[in-house]
Amino acid sequence: MELTDYEIYENKRRIKELLSFTKREKVGDLIKFLDRSGYFYFYGSYKHHKYKGGLAKHSLEVMEYALEHNEGCDRDSIIIAALLHDLCKTKYNFPKGVEFHGHGTKSLAILKEFIGFPLTEEEELAIRFHMGSGCYIRDEEEAERYAKARESELWSLIHVGDCISAGNHPKITHGLVKNVIKLGKL
Ligand SMILES: [Fe+2]
Repeated sequence: MELTDYEIYENKRRIKELLSFTKREKVGDLIKFLDRSGYFYFYGSYKHHKYKGGLAKHSLEVMEYALEHNEGCDRDSIIIAALLHDLCKTKYNFPKGVEFHGHGTKSLAILKEFIGFPLTEEEELAIRFHMGSGCYIRDEEEAERYAKARESELWSLIHVGDCISAGNHPKITHGLVKNVIKLGKL
């Protein structure tokens, strides 16, 4: 699959508009980062949306799924978490020696440390743990945060939307968190 230049342009216009309408502090800096980082032109992943503009298309698909199935979450939170969950798949070089476990953590670091973009706790959890059973959990504190994420409707909307857009089966199986520390990775 390939997107036309017009489709790429239209996705870019739409994403900027959706984010601007949230009126969230620092949204101007965020949009500048998206432009600079190649967000609108990057491939989605080496596994899915492997074409120019794929990352933006995938992010919009996650948002559309989440908005369609939403029953009580804040609309701006859905837009922000869905459109930014894979932000680290853009052109951004972290300082040498900085290590992350998983791309949810990386996306969060760009938003919080680099851009200073304000997020609610629920948005942070949804971005950090959007991979669900694919998340690396390094310690007990992380396990507790992951358990908290799994209780959140926003997290489940983003996680399931991400799985469906990427062509995977979502695995929302409860009662697995206790095994996280032992296994390192679910
Ligand atoms: Fe994703």
